[in-house]
Amino acid sequence: MQCITSNQNFQVPPMLYGTAWKKERTANLVAQALENGFRGIDTACQPKHYEEALVGEGCAHFYAKGGKREELFLQTKFTPTEGQDPQRVPYNPQASLEEQILTSCNISKHNLQTDYLDSFLLHSPLFPYSNLLKAWKVFESLLEKGDVRHIGISNCYDLQLLQKLYTDARIKPWCVQNRFYADVHYDTTLRAWLKDKGMIYQSFWTLSANPHILHSLILQEIAQTYGKSTAQIFYRYVMHQGIIPLNGTTSAQHMKEDLSILEFTLTPLEIARIDALLV
Ligand SMILES: NC(=O)c1ccc[n+]([C@@H]2O[C@H](COP(=O)([O-])OP(=O)(O)OC[C@H]3O[C@@H](n4cnc5c(N)ncnc54)[C@H](OP(=O)(O)O)[C@@H]3O)[C@@H](O)[C@H]2O)c1
Repeated sequence: MQCITSNQNFQVPPMLYGTAWKKERTANLVAQALENGFRGIDTACQPKHYEEALVGEGCAHFYAKGGKREELFLQTKFTPTEGQDPQRVPYNPQASLEEQILTSCNISKHNLQTDYLDSFLLHSPLFPYSNLLKAWKVFESLLEKGDVRHIGISNCYDLQLLQKLYTDARIKPWCVQNRFYADVHYDTTLRAWLKDKGMIYQSFWTLSANPHILHSLILQEIAQTYGKSTAQIFYRYVMHQGIIPLNGTTSAQHMKEDLSILEFTLTPLEIARIDALLV
């Protein structure tokens, strides 16, 4: 899979395989995704939604077949206590924020059977802002120690907050991972700012939140032109925007189809027609 180059000058796969909600199927599906050509994986140290250790098992299948760790881009997240199932918090919720993040990072490295993470995201902003900054400093220290290579944030829809973090951070976030949906106007303003700063936007719910786009006549017409599905056309569209979509398909057929979309390009007119659907 042809990688894209981030502003921080590293290579990132143009689509990441999403591992949420796969439960006991996680290891097999990750192995299958890697077999089909995915090289980037998104997960989280959040047992409520992710089986991170099974993601590691899926990667182990890849290594057993001759794959190398450095061929993979492994991304995981520190999930604050509010996002955890109170019965299954993977770290001591009473510990300091710094301890929680350090423990979570260590568990993720253990789960993913690796001694470094390619990308470590803060799953959601923390409030008050002083806590967000405190967490970010721990993220920076993990990067400086070599535990993680790149740091970012997720579920941050407030551009002012992001700008404040960007200003205060010694090490800037390389990406923002957000839900790509109409309620936040597809983060159009935020994405323009990220682009200006050279940061990357990762989208989730790209298909699930947008059935109205996938079923639109415009998408159907373009899909027919290329002999592709509307899902493939929409993924191709978001990639034309420089977005890295997360893709959590459980279908081998969809894995293959979605990885093949870089074989064609949409015309500027087709892109403009889809742009007009994002309101
Ligand atoms: N940061 C966060 O807070 C957050 C929140 C939610 C999700 N995520 C991440 O995002 C990942 C993706 O989740 P998602 O909610 O965006 O959606 P998704 O899991 O990618 O869901 C896509 C849905 O569309 C279907 N589909 C139909 N055609 C498809 C095609 N050609 N390719 C792919 N899927 C197709 C899939 O069904 P089939 O299985 O039949 O293909 C699936 O039901 C998660 O696994 C997780 O890693 C992050």
